[in-house]
Amino acid sequence: MISLDNVSKVYRTKTIETLALSGINLKVETGEFLSIMGPSGCGKSTLLHIMGLLDDPTKGQVFINGLNLDQKNHIALAKFRNHHLGFIFQSFHLINDLNVIDNVEMPLIYRNIGSKQRRLMAEKALEQVSLSNRMSHYPPQLSGGQKQRVAIARAIVANPGIILADEPTGNLDSSMGNEIMDILLRLNKQGTTIVMVTHDDRMAKKTNRLVRLFDGAQVQ
Ligand SMILES: Nc1ncnc2c1ncn2[C@@H]1O[C@H](COP(=O)(O)OP(=O)(O)OP(=O)(O)O)[C@@H](O)[C@H]1O
Ligand SMILES: [Mg+2]
Repeated sequence: MISLDNVSKVYRTKTIETLALSGINLKVETGEFLSIMGPSGCGKSTLLHIMGLLDDPTKGQVFINGLNLDQKNHIALAKFRNHHLGFIFQSFHLINDLNVIDNVEMPLIYRNIGSKQRRLMAEKALEQVSLSNRMSHYPPQLSGGQKQRVAIARAIVANPGIILADEPTGNLDSSMGNEIMDILLRLNKQGTTIVMVTHDDRMAKKTNRLVRLFDGAQVQ
């Protein structure tokens, strides 16, 4: 389903080059729940962004559903992402000027789904993360864990085939973390392929497979 073929990533600024990933070969099968662990700065978010076609590798290739999408065709890329991928970002990326339910509806706006149906789907996604009582709040009025749950609702609202989650339980206490993990496990049981970055061994243990990164390379 997702295949990374000898992927390397170098970040270049005027003064410095950072090798964030080097020679990653990784296959994620349909229906798999994979976790990625490793110390801060080892390239986990970079790897997830490349898997999610949000960033292009410096070297190597990425295939999703057998397709190797042209990074230069931005419209086709955005459309593909919108239909197939749900992304939970480490820093949430919520729109502060939109309230919670409008944030969750965002991915549906780019599809031909009527406004009533969109609202129903967003309400259902918010119910799943126990946030039905904060639909009219704006992101700055939410706690960190609540923002995280809005980001999760937005990622799952359109039932994507693949969810890429960057520390989805990182800002939550253990009971809310477990609830979020249960949601992801349930989605996975229903067939959603999930790749999750985590610092939490207990969460990783609940997934099918663990990949460890160190200094941009796969060590397990
Ligand atoms: N835009 C960028 N420009 C330059 N260097 C970057 C950029 N983004 C990331 N890096 C560097 O690439 C490396 C990998 O970063 P990445 O965000 O993937 O780490 P991470 O494993 O997700 O860390 P964390 O656990 O702290 O989130 C880091 O050393 C970081 O400093
Ligand atoms: Mg990160």
